Amino acid sequence: MESTDLRDNETKLIEILQLAYSGERAAGYAYRGHWHSVSDPEEKKRIHTIEDEEWHHRRLVGEMLTKLGSGPDKVREMRATIIGRTLGLLCHLSGWLAPMYGAGRLESRNIVEYETAARYALACGRDEFIDCLLTMAEVEWEHEHYFRERVLSHRWATWLKIWPPPPAKETIRQQFQPTSEELAWSL
Ligand SMILES: [Fe+2]
Ligand SMILES: [Fe+2]
Repeated sequence: MESTDLRDNETKLIEILQLAYSGERAAGYAYRGHWHSVSDPEEKKRIHTIEDEEWHHRRLVGEMLTKLGSGPDKVREMRATIIGRTLGLLCHLSGWLAPMYGAGRLESRNIVEYETAARYALACGRDEFIDCLLTMAEVEWEHEHYFRERVLSHRWATWLKIWPPPPAKETIRQQFQPTSEELAWSL
């Protein structure tokens, strides 16, 4: 591969990681408001765990950015704080359904974001990031699944247009498994 292609893919990787890094901050603050706003103890516990997982993702993505000789985007960071805190406050005013629906929709995008980042990592020779990025995509898949189930449990669910379901969780890793032909070549 040409070195300019490698550099392009590394730039794209850094950009998407900066996006994810700030996105995790917004999500962390929003879920903090969300779990405080629900009254069901099981929901409170699960959404609190999801908040912790988002902060964990943020740490992992931050480490990747450092290894790439980069760091967070200051403007995105500021925007994420405002958006996250605002959403967290709104959870107390908007009732039960809207935050569950909004979270599920957002999580479905997060799955794709980490899959795309893994593809860029592969394309620029940062193979050591791939497993971690795919694991985060799988965790986001679990988050999406949880919020989808909650939304579907609501009495208005039959009248709601639900966002498209993501492909099965197994497909996240299947895309990155070498084909039998590639395996034969590596022997
Ligand atoms: Fe996350
Ligand atoms: Fe998530």
